[in-house]
Amino acid sequence: MLLDGALDRPAAADPAFRADVLAGLATRPRAIPARWFYDRQGSELFEAITGLPEYYPTRVETALLAAHCGEVARLVGAGRAVVEFGSGSSAKTPHVLAAVEPAAYVPIDISGEFLRASAAALAADFPKLPIQPLEADFMHPIDPPEGIARLPKLGFFPGSTIGNMVPRTAVNLLRAMVETLGEGAMLLIGIDRIKQEDVLVPAYDDAAGVTARFNLNLLERINRELEGDVPVDAFGHRAIWNDNEARIEMHLEAIRDVRFTVAGERFAMAAGETIHTENSHKYGPRDARLLLRAGAWTPLREWTDADGMFALILAEARPAGTAP
Ligand code: TRP
Repeated sequence: MLLDGALDRPAAADPAFRADVLAGLATRPRAIPARWFYDRQGSELFEAITGLPEYYPTRVETALLAAHCGEVARLVGAGRAVVEFGSGSSAKTPHVLAAVEPAAYVPIDISGEFLRASAAALAADFPKLPIQPLEADFMHPIDPPEGIARLPKLGFFPGSTIGNMVPRTAVNLLRAMVETLGEGAMLLIGIDRIKQEDVLVPAYDDAAGVTARFNLNLLERINRELEGDVPVDAFGHRAIWNDNEARIEMHLEAIRDVRFTVAGERFAMAAGETIHTENSHKYGPRDARLLLRAGAWTPLREWTDADGMFALILAEARPAGTAP
C-alpha cells in the first residue's frame, strides 16, 4: 500500500546545489558535499557499484541481514514503524520487513524519482504494509508522517552510510535520529570495519571503472544543471586510504591544467589539484560502539562475518543514566 506524499517536484536546478558547488570550488581544499552525487544517473551508478566484485560491503551486509534478521525480529518485537535513512533502491529492506512484522515502512531518500520507483516495487511485495516515502535530506531533522508518529520505531541505516560523515557530523546525525525516532526506539545500523588497504582501496576504485564514472558524474551533473563547461576528460578518479582519519577519500584530480566556468563563475585548477568528493570512514569494533554511545545509542547486539569485514549493530535509545 503506497501512500502518496509530496514527492512530485520538478528536477529544476537546485539553488543549494549551485551554492555548494560554487563555494566548494572556491575554498581550499576544494570539496563538494557527497549528497550531490545522487541525481538519477548517480543513483543508478551507485546501484551498479553495490554489485561490483571489489565492493564487498553490500554483499557482506546483505548476508548478515539474511542470516540474523530472525534474531533482530525477536529483539525488537512486532508492530514498529521501520524508518530507513537513505533508502536508495531499498535492496536490503525486504529481509528486515519480512522478519520484523512492521506496522509501517517509511523510506527516506534525497532522490525522489528513485525513491518512488523503489517504494512502488516494495509495495508490490508487501501489499498490506503502509509505505510512506519521504523525499528529504535525512541530515536535517524530519517530522515523522501522520499516523506514524505514535508507533514505536525501528531505524534502519544500512550501507555504512554513517561512515560517509566525519565523526562530529555522524554523532549529530545519530542524536537527531534519537529525536526523530523517540526514546525507546531501536536502530539497526551497518558499519564498515577497518581492514587491509589492498581490500579497501579497490572497493572504491574498481577495475571496470564504475566508481570512476560515479565520481565523474558529479562534474557532468554540474555541466548539465549549472551551465558548466568543465572538461570532464581532464579529470581522473582517485581513491586513497587516509590512515590518520581511518577513511577512504575520493577525489577528482585535474590531470592537466584546466579552466572552466560554472554558473557564470570562472575557476582554474593546476594539474594534480583535486576536488574532494567523498569520505568513507571505517571503524574498528570498539570505535563503532563508542560512536554509537557518543550519539546517544546503546549497542545491544552485534553481528559480523567470519572475516570481520562488516558489522551490523542493533542499538537502543535509552534515557541517559547517571554518570558516576
Ligand atoms: N556508504 C557506502 C560506502 O562508503 C556507500 C557509498 C557512499 C559509496 N558513497 C560512495 C561507495 C561512493 C562508493 C563510492 O562504502
